[in-house]
Amino acid sequence: MKFKKNILCIGAGYVGGPTMAVIAHKCPQYKVSVVDINSARIAEWNSETLPIYEPGLDEIVKKARGKNLFFSDDISTGIVENDIIFVSVNTPTKEFGVGAGQAADLQYWEKTARQILQFSDSDKIIVEKSTLPVKTAQAMERILADSTNGARFEVLSNPEFLAEGTAINDLLYPDRVLIGASDTESGLQARDELVEIYTNWVPRERIITTNVWSSELSKLVANAFLAQRVSSINSISALCEKTDADINEVAMAVGMDSRIGNRFLNASVGFGGSCFKKDILNLVYLCRHYGLSEVADYWENVVRINQYQKDRFALQMLSTMFNTLSGKRIALFGFAFKADTGDTRESPATCIAKRLLAEQAEVCITDPKALRNAQNDLKDVDGKVHYTEDPYEATEGCHAIAVMTEWDIYRDLNYEKIYRSMANPAFIFDGRNILDHEKLFEIGFNVFPIGKPSLTHF
Ligand code: NAD
Ligand code: UGA
Repeated sequence: MKFKKNILCIGAGYVGGPTMAVIAHKCPQYKVSVVDINSARIAEWNSETLPIYEPGLDEIVKKARGKNLFFSDDISTGIVENDIIFVSVNTPTKEFGVGAGQAADLQYWEKTARQILQFSDSDKIIVEKSTLPVKTAQAMERILADSTNGARFEVLSNPEFLAEGTAINDLLYPDRVLIGASDTESGLQARDELVEIYTNWVPRERIITTNVWSSELSKLVANAFLAQRVSSINSISALCEKTDADINEVAMAVGMDSRIGNRFLNASVGFGGSCFKKDILNLVYLCRHYGLSEVADYWENVVRINQYQKDRFALQMLSTMFNTLSGKRIALFGFAFKADTGDTRESPATCIAKRLLAEQAEVCITDPKALRNAQNDLKDVDGKVHYTEDPYEATEGCHAIAVMTEWDIYRDLNYEKIYRSMANPAFIFDGRNILDHEKLFEIGFNVFPIGKPSLTHF
């Protein structure tokens, strides 16, 4: 069958997989291929058990796979056969050399640019899907300008705003699609081609176009603003705990101001995920690079408050439990960085687990989707760690429970039964404020929420 467009995505991760699945689902007239250097990951995309858990993803992948959606590790053929190439490779924080700990590590991205250059024998549109520092598209254009066989490349910026756990919904009904293009005839032509893809399901007024640099910067700024809201409410949660104010009441009162809005005001043990910290640090690095140290300091504090919140949580556990955790069993409810995903990258649970293990506690981790990743994250950490999907098993004989992820299942467990199976006095530290604290207190638990007065029997 002849398809109207042939689209490739390089990078079959949390962004590449779902994004391309939605394009294939919404545009049966296009052939969509996804390639990755990680052959094991590609094999999983082609299997019954997809490599990532995302509500709604299985259904659309299984419908389109083999029809107009294909997963492969043959990158060179992918590049040859497609005219529009999305690049969605990982861009972690650089861990070495200049900018270590802040700048984006662009090695995967540059390798991809060179592969595109090596295998292309016709003109292509390259779409930056990965989150990249400002001016990366320009650097990519420079690498691609070296083509020896006359192939020409137009680089667009099209950052992705999906959040894990709601990725399919976010892709189907995006608040906006952002496309950055150069203001040249070929740049605008390429932009229009990408706009045409999205108009298959996104209302035209939600597709916004800007220059390339605004697009690249807007992605970093959107994440910085979101993370800043979490750090803002978390900083106030510390004050609430000192003053007997209730963070939920404060968040409600503040969020009802329509200028502020009520979303992203849930106090927590801290934000996690692969992007908030890395993107803010990237922004901080850019600001410092341009000599804007006050601006850099301002944003860096969003990350500092997040670390402070995690530290505060771990220290409160220690001080509340009589300043010793040695030999005590502690159940962690959830290990994913948020509910409805198996992703544990930068999860606050990793930090808390390590802190507890350093205090010689025994840690029992339970999570419905993230145990495989949790095991991998903690494989080199000394100490006793148990893993089980069953929260009742995880809590048996424990001295404390700490809620790390806001999975719905933890709201409605039989806490009477759990209390009876635990050691006394029994503690609950609710790092997500999802439990019924009064009820737990009545059962006999000593309850420590975030940003609210604790309920103790002492
Ligand atoms: P990921 O690590 O899940 O996936 C990246 C994939 O790229 C990996 O499977 C890796 O094997 C592959 N890869 C690396 N180099 C390659 C190469 N040279 N050729 C082929 N494949 C290669 O990462 P992710 O979470 O999908 O994020 C990708 C990008 O999207 C990042 O820049 C991230 O900041 C951005 N982003 C992520 C999210 C999210 O929710 N995870 C949301 C928006 C934007
Ligand atoms: C975030 C952004 O929301 C996406 O728009 C963006 O595309 C993505 O980063 C990215 O660039 O990777 P994600 O990290 O998947 O998405 O999930 P969020 O829902 O933003 O949550 C991030 C963290 O903040 C989680 O740990 C979550 O539990 C925490 N959070 C969120 C809170 O603690 N309180 C809140 O009120 C909201």
